[in-house]
Amino acid sequence: MRHIVLIGFMASGKTAVGRRMAARLGWEFLDMDALIEQREGRAISEIFAADGEAEFRRIESDIVASLRPEAPTVVATGGGTFVDERNRDALSKLGVVVCLMISIDTVLDRVRRNDKRPLAAGADGEERVRNLYEQRMPVYRTADVLVETDGLSIDQSVSRVLAMVQPRLDADQAASAKARRGRARGADR
Ligand code: S3P
Repeated sequence: MRHIVLIGFMASGKTAVGRRMAARLGWEFLDMDALIEQREGRAISEIFAADGEAEFRRIESDIVASLRPEAPTVVATGGGTFVDERNRDALSKLGVVVCLMISIDTVLDRVRRNDKRPLAAGADGEERVRNLYEQRMPVYRTADVLVETDGLSIDQSVSRVLAMVQPRLDADQAASAKARRGRARGADR
């Protein structure tokens, strides 16, 4: 396992938890939505408004396909990134996929207080969010690790994710140490 990929429904805390987790591990942090906005030079809501969701998804998939982090990295995805099958395959190859699980009530509460999410905007926003939540949950559940974060602070969520992921990190370190020893022995011969 090389990297940690955070997935989950919009407003599940992927960016905040990912950034804090990377800091604790001393790893790099990459945020998909921020990469999209940087590359496009405009906000996600502007991309949706000017060019539509399909264009946003095209840009998103393009960026997923080009992700090649060198140093160990925590990658925070957007809520819809993992829904696309090709994105799913590419993200799964990067490392362990961790889903931050939250209840629909927490989602609705958080998106009401933030107008940056085009899919939650407008008079029919709540209904759209409820439908997306139902549709996407089965896909999120295919993540390698599911972590319940409802009611937890950012720090508590980070601790819970790390507790679940740590055995994989340890196994990975042991495997690379073994490979290094093997190479060193080979070089001695
Ligand atoms: C989306 C979630 C957003 C952003 C875009 C689409 C989605 O990211 O990528 O508005 O399809 O759920 P967050 O999950 O960070 O809100």
